[in-house]
Amino acid sequence: MTSTIDGGAPPQLDAEGAQRAYDLDRRHVFHSWSAQDLLDPMVISAASGSYVWDGNGKKYLDFSSQLVNTNIGHQHPAVVAAIAEQAAKLCTIAPSYVNDARSEAARLISERTPGELNKIFFTNGGADANEHAVRMARLHTGRQKVLSAYRSYHGGTQLAVNLTGDPRRWASDSASTGAVHFFPPYLYRTAFHSTTEEEESSRALEHLEQLIAYEGPATIAAIILESIPGTAGIYLPPPGYLQGVRELCDRYGIIFIADEVMSGFGRTGKWFAVEHFDVVPDLLTFAKGVNSGYVPMGGVAISPEIAATFGTRVYPGGLTYSGHPLAAAAAIATINAMEDEGMVEHAAELAARSSGRRSGDSPTVTRPWAKSAAPECSGPSNW
Ligand SMILES: Cc1ncc(COP(=O)(O)O)c(C=O)c1O
Repeated sequence: MTSTIDGGAPPQLDAEGAQRAYDLDRRHVFHSWSAQDLLDPMVISAASGSYVWDGNGKKYLDFSSQLVNTNIGHQHPAVVAAIAEQAAKLCTIAPSYVNDARSEAARLISERTPGELNKIFFTNGGADANEHAVRMARLHTGRQKVLSAYRSYHGGTQLAVNLTGDPRRWASDSASTGAVHFFPPYLYRTAFHSTTEEEESSRALEHLEQLIAYEGPATIAAIILESIPGTAGIYLPPPGYLQGVRELCDRYGIIFIADEVMSGFGRTGKWFAVEHFDVVPDLLTFAKGVNSGYVPMGGVAISPEIAATFGTRVYPGGLTYSGHPLAAAAAIATINAMEDEGMVEHAAELAARSSGRRSGDSPTVTRPWAKSAAPECSGPSNW
């Protein structure tokens, strides 16, 4: 049997069980983002902390935290216990009722989001969180278009994948969702022929403002941006960029949606990545790290102004599992474990160590391009 460095669980399946799981998968499971017949997926039979075990009992470091979502690691005992406790008490309840786990999860999340984002609409994951954020923005402003960046990912559902700015969009792009794309600052291969971070920031903002002018400010409901982009390449916004986007949104009455599905819940050394830039969005979407994916959950944190739009007017949207008790219990235990064990501070410390800065310096995220005197500016490229 494989040793468990971190005191983790040994594999749960024997060779025969692993083979059966594999055979059934190949016969019956249709996988995400894949040509089905070309797949040879790995069997994972157990996980603990930062490690997973394959069907042969071989141990691997889970370097990507699955899909960048197990922020607290696998099988955290407090979270597993909280799910079991909630399951014994109440497994499911419709979203129209009050549930103590849902109420407490909403409190813990809203206390950690920046500004006054004090109302939480729970979804099943990140894509539907973005879908609902856009719906709220459209109804609040009475406008339809939504601007999003190339080199972004916002989810796999119809609107979310149309907002997505990388080629995963193409196969599903109906060009009818009101999504309009712009170039974000990208210091590795600048679209603006910049030679400094500051130049890239101001030129990218100038481009965005021109795009707003030509699309027509009165037609634009929202700008959605990953605070720090993730799956389309992890690249930091240069100084002043997110603040500049906030200013443009204020100037033209546009709702600023920060997609924190991947960058939220401690991933960047703060609870939410926008905090590095002193920016408060109007809507903030989250998923993944909210409960490390132990039970599916996402959501939208909502500003008082947008929440007020739906004070006496019905919000025309909902989900059977909005604020599901098992997911909410997992979120409570996850957030409390992150707090009690100083995980967010630890992430900041690791970032500071790897970039040679002290913990507490701002921002605490690493800047990959800072290694060279000037960012690489090779002009437009394929992605
Ligand atoms: C930034 C961002 N937004 C949205 C999503 C979609 O989340 P989900 O897969 O939970 O629908 C992802 C998933 O990777 C993401 O990284």
